Amino acid sequence: MSSKLIVALDFPSSNEALAFVSKLSPVDCKLKVGFELFVSAGPEIVRRLTDKGFDIFLDLKFHDIPNTVASVCKAAAQLDVWMMNVHASGGSEMLRAAREALLNFDSSPKLIAVSVLTSMSDQQLQEIGVDVLAKEQVKHLAGLAKNAGLDGMVCSAQEASLLREAFGDDFLLVTPGIRPQGADIGDQSRVMTPADAMRVGVDYIVVGRPITQSPDPLAVIEGINKEMAESLVE
Ligand code: C5P
Repeated sequence: MSSKLIVALDFPSSNEALAFVSKLSPVDCKLKVGFELFVSAGPEIVRRLTDKGFDIFLDLKFHDIPNTVASVCKAAAQLDVWMMNVHASGGSEMLRAAREALLNFDSSPKLIAVSVLTSMSDQQLQEIGVDVLAKEQVKHLAGLAKNAGLDGMVCSAQEASLLREAFGDDFLLVTPGIRPQGADIGDQSRVMTPADAMRVGVDYIVVGRPITQSPDPLAVIEGINKEMAESLVE
């Protein structure tokens, strides 16, 4: 079974990212390339990683007018990424434009949406003129994404059961803020273990520092994969 673990490759340079990846196998994990690495290393890092056989989640959260988002989605698909994301708050027209832009690729990348950033509180949402609770806004935006034909959402583990119940099994839930038992929480606030994330219906977990900053990343990866597999046969 292909791994449900996506390792967040949050490194400041191509050399550091590649040195770390040389210890990993595409069988054990997928990789997430976000702003930090993409801005410092450019599209070439994505090519280097796909050449090594890794599935890449390009986490650049596109948010612009529909035509621009459609163009950048095409450009990202040409890098052969496995998954990419856009902001659901760009609206239905933007979401549909992104979806349609990806239709004519041999293996069309999965397209998921970001709803409310987990760093935003109810109060901060009010500040930008959104007068509902964050979890209601998340559900609303997930509905827009589902109706526009997107494959799923990035969501916190706390939101996963709500979204699973509302939108069914055919909707990918991808969740950061995951910490193996006993790992340092860092700046994440509401965390969940890999096993609990599987129990609430998450499809893929994103884990960064507990793996990238470990003296033995492979052992952490194996432990997480084992924990997830065991929770799925319970
Ligand atoms: O190191 P850590 O496991 O906290 O990394 C989590 C990754 O997921 C980081 O790349 C972070 O930017 C990303 N992320 C997050 N929370 C979100 C969305 C993305 O932690 N709501």
